[in-house]
Amino acid sequence: MTPRGTGPYGAGDMREVVIGLLGAGNVGGGVARILQENQADIERRLGASVRVKKILVRNLERTRDATMPRALLTTDPREVLEDPEIRIVVELMGGIEPALTMILEALSRSKHVVTANKALMATHGKVLFAEAQRRGVAINFEAAVAGGIPILRALREGLASDRIERITGIVNGTCNYILDAMSRTGATYADALKDAQAAGFAEADPTLDVGGGDAAQKLSLLTLLAFGLRVDPAAIATEGITRVRSFDIAAADALGYVFKSLAEARQTPEGPALSVHPMLVPKEHILATVRGSYNAVLVESRAMGRSLYHGRGAGPMPTGMAVVSDIIELCRHIFAFDAGRPPPEAFSTIVEAVPRPTSDEAHENYLCVHVTNVPGILGRVASCLGRHEVSVKRLEQDLHGAGQAVDMVVVTERVPEARVRAAVAEIDGLDEVTGPTHRFRIREPDTIE
Ligand code: HSE
Repeated sequence: MTPRGTGPYGAGDMREVVIGLLGAGNVGGGVARILQENQADIERRLGASVRVKKILVRNLERTRDATMPRALLTTDPREVLEDPEIRIVVELMGGIEPALTMILEALSRSKHVVTANKALMATHGKVLFAEAQRRGVAINFEAAVAGGIPILRALREGLASDRIERITGIVNGTCNYILDAMSRTGATYADALKDAQAAGFAEADPTLDVGGGDAAQKLSLLTLLAFGLRVDPAAIATEGITRVRSFDIAAADALGYVFKSLAEARQTPEGPALSVHPMLVPKEHILATVRGSYNAVLVESRAMGRSLYHGRGAGPMPTGMAVVSDIIELCRHIFAFDAGRPPPEAFSTIVEAVPRPTSDEAHENYLCVHVTNVPGILGRVASCLGRHEVSVKRLEQDLHGAGQAVDMVVVTERVPEARVRAAVAEIDGLDEVTGPTHRFRIREPDTIE
């Protein structure tokens, strides 16, 4: 921190915090723009200015706008990591390496860190928190979950006194965009994915989005903030949206539901129940109204009840805004530290946890059974369900004459996962069944009103 001398209260009275950026891609561009465009607001709220001293880039020659002057750019990470004047290192490169090594280096030099890197925080958070704590600095990662939505801050601060029962997030904008476009405009999955990629919020590898891996990483971080539990994203039951067909969207619509990819975390006596699944959500449910690439996180907590955090989950400006807000929070830590107060611990305890098996879960189900229309087939399907004590709530079928293919849509009552799996396996073994049954879960009612 150095005096800058141009503050609103006269020469020499405005404090300044010097920062360095690692990476200057889309989010880096958003960070630079927000620091410049909102400079006056930031200075007013912080009582200090934030100055970017160095920006690590891969290519010095790439054209950049005026927010990233050439004089600030470097290809040498040491110019950021080893500069004693830089108090906060902002990692925006993404991926595990070299981000991990550079962040550890920054922490070891007692620099605070801000990152938007969900993969890194979800898989290596423990070692990073330990190093930060050892060095008396902080690592902030608000932008890693749901982009601009201040959900981590809400969990850490706004709801700090509450007991969280369940979190349900629409935390992948690409999935929500695709499902929403398929249901509202009848777009095909492939076209909707292309649009999402063109809009720039899909990951470089879209299988991370549509396969559910991105949402699982975010859910792991939400679980850490909400329950103090660290769960490996790879241990979370995760299902992508690629099996959802236009037929399922239309059938769900007729039954009064919309498809949403939901990331859920619940505390249970047997351990945390975590999952990422495409689910049917009743049209009147608040999460059903989340459109396009928007994200939303519904928190159910004892004292507060239901609270919804909704907004843009990706894009340079929303994500950049979350990064700069983290920088501002760390500036405040720095002022407190320089005045002799240590920064608060990020987490006093982190408990490693394994999610409980999903076979113990119970929910209503949507089944689409593909059969040939022959006498008795309905009875045979119903017998399989009955044998495994799966009760039918609704049944729809569109018949096209004897011997024709039929998609039989069944909505089950609430039933344990293991029983419905066994019933479906038996159904799929019937001679008249022409392909694997499509099964999706139906969203459980909210626990708190
Ligand atoms: N690819 C992510 C999404 C954005 O589609 O939501 C970054 O987290």
